[in-house]
Amino acid sequence: MSVPITEIESHAKSIKVVIVGAGSVGVTTAYALLLSHLAAEIVLIDIDKNRALGEVMDLSHAAHFAHAKVSVGEYEDCAGATAVIITAGVNQKPGQTRMDLVKTNYGLFEQIVPQIAKHAPNTILIVATNPCDVLTKAAHELSGFPVQRVIGSGTAMDTTRFRHELGKHYGVNPRNVHAVIVGEHGDSQLPVWSLASIAGMRLEDYCKQKGIAYDEEDMEALGKRTREAAYEIIQRKGKTNYGVASVLVSILEPIITNADQLVTVSRVGNYAGVEGVALSMPCKLNSKGAHQDVELLLNEKEKEALRRSATSIKECFDSVAK
Ligand code: 2OP
Repeated sequence: MSVPITEIESHAKSIKVVIVGAGSVGVTTAYALLLSHLAAEIVLIDIDKNRALGEVMDLSHAAHFAHAKVSVGEYEDCAGATAVIITAGVNQKPGQTRMDLVKTNYGLFEQIVPQIAKHAPNTILIVATNPCDVLTKAAHELSGFPVQRVIGSGTAMDTTRFRHELGKHYGVNPRNVHAVIVGEHGDSQLPVWSLASIAGMRLEDYCKQKGIAYDEEDMEALGKRTREAAYEIIQRKGKTNYGVASVLVSILEPIITNADQLVTVSRVGNYAGVEGVALSMPCKLNSKGAHQDVELLLNEKEKEALRRSATSIKECFDSVAK
């Protein structure tokens, strides 16, 4: 963790985080959040109260070590929350795309988001439910919140997976890899190869110096493994939870600690000539939310891929929005 634990704990005293959805992403996020010491209070809301209570009872025993209060709540309990994370919704079955979930999960958001907005008009909404970008835009419209306070976890997950793949391939710790995935948290995402670097060197120069091949085939394979990681995990274990839960906490941390950290998260904006769509680009995260203050210098091929990604998210949103 980048911020010292004592500093985090002093912030934490006034921090309440609500998680809507006590499925595996919701409860794994609650657990990761407990262990992070970022919040003093964690509230779980779920339509299945009995299940949520069972999870809370179990989490409370972990809370004993982490000194945070964990409880089952109602939408009224969103009042005063620093952030409300939405994980509720149906998950992909093997072979389904994230966009296949849009109808059901958009319908759920129509129920959930206005209730959160009513009780917590100043909170920051963090959307993890898929299709993440489409639902980030839906949450923005249904809440009436300004764009910077409606954040999709977006390609923060894919960027983490990409750095992991690159670290393995090039033989360095993923923390020494600077490379991002932007666009959709889904099939049309794009790896920004033109700006990838290791140890401050352009990837191409790094490879030259190390005598490692820098070829299209490797890049294609690394991009594909990143894009298809969730499909493979779902095929094997039926869901993803640890990766996304850790990413959600890593998005919360700079918000809670006002850290101005750049993270690839989804936010409504105008991208590659497509207006009013949510997708991921690096955003500065702080206590006021997500701010677009860097513009990546993409090459022409990447700009075109971003436009395609933005268009497919927009088409999916338009297919369900009333
Ligand atoms: C993930 O990428 C399925 O969106 C989820 O882990």
